[in-house]
Amino acid sequence: MHTTIPPFRAEFTTAQKADFLTAAAQILDSGRLTLGPYTRRLEDTFAALTGTSHTIAVSSGTNALEITLRARGLTGADVLVPANTNYATAEATIRAGARPVLYDTALTATLEAIDTARTPRTRAVILVHIGGHITPDLDKITHYAATHNLTIVEDAAHAHGSATNGRPAGSLGTAAAFSCFATKILTTGEGGLITTDDPRLAQLTRQYRDQGKHPDNGLNTVFGSAWRLPELSAALGLAQITHAPTPMQRGHDLLVTYAQHIHHPQVTIPFEPGHRYSGHKAIAQLPTPALRNHLHQHLVTTGIAPARGVYDHPLHHQPALGLTGTYPLADHFAETHLCLPLWPGITPDQQRHIIDTVNTWQPPHHQN
Ligand SMILES: Cc1ncc(COP(=O)(O)O)c(C=O)c1O
Repeated sequence: MHTTIPPFRAEFTTAQKADFLTAAAQILDSGRLTLGPYTRRLEDTFAALTGTSHTIAVSSGTNALEITLRARGLTGADVLVPANTNYATAEATIRAGARPVLYDTALTATLEAIDTARTPRTRAVILVHIGGHITPDLDKITHYAATHNLTIVEDAAHAHGSATNGRPAGSLGTAAAFSCFATKILTTGEGGLITTDDPRLAQLTRQYRDQGKHPDNGLNTVFGSAWRLPELSAALGLAQITHAPTPMQRGHDLLVTYAQHIHHPQVTIPFEPGHRYSGHKAIAQLPTPALRNHLHQHLVTTGIAPARGVYDHPLHHQPALGLTGTYPLADHFAETHLCLPLWPGITPDQQRHIIDTVNTWQPPHHQN
């Protein structure tokens, strides 16, 4: 194989491009560039996909989180945030006027870590479905949250199409925030989607995204901002979920292929039976940092450009956040995983080459 396989490529099928171009012409002819019929259709289609009553399209996943936390009245509260997540999860929490309190996580949340981190002022917990992985502790955490009066907010930035035992991401807490950024499995270039079953929360989030304007009288009754999604962006998102297979159906199947065919004794592809996966990331876990680095180098020298980690720097190492503390699970996870190339358009030959390269990797003896 001569060309390097990239970690990810934003690619669109012929049918998706045709749908988008038709929609773009209609939008330009209509003169309605924001908050129009394409936004509404994207919202309705995504609500059906996530089994929720309401979806609200906004300008980014970060803003989806901030809006959700504000609309839920969490300003001034402590909010539990996993140490292993994107900067945006904590940033949005701070922007909403809440205080992020970190709990230690490897790939997914545990009840034990949440319980350890909870403070007297904690009113919410954010569950982040890293790479599309939903925590196996979900039922225990849901019960705990109900007992302690905590709101569960899903940061589902990576989890379009993920599900646990038939329950889709987006429907697992009070509300969820998805990202439709350029690297996401469902993308609008920049954008986000909020899902909820709570009609009052849905109405408020719609108000927040449009400068906080009250629908009845146009007065800015809540501190919203310009958090709308343009119609052209909504049309791009809609084009990806109108026809089967959707990018997330492809993503799930590609992840299954990795999980079924990688059988190197040192490499674990996390995969829970009964779960569906967005296919946002193909995470491979190694026993030690040295082995992770060695596999990474091996892949690179055979024409494969793996992404290093989902996150190489957990939040307590991000200088801008000022969140210090000791989070050994997050540190260990960051140092011992990498992401194999994965995007809906990856070819069977490319995936076969990656699988063969992993399976025939020979770790150095002293690192075994
Ligand atoms: C876990 C997580 N939350 C939130 C975000 C923010 O999404 P956006 O870039 O759309 O603002 C990201 C972005 O990659 C993310 O990975």
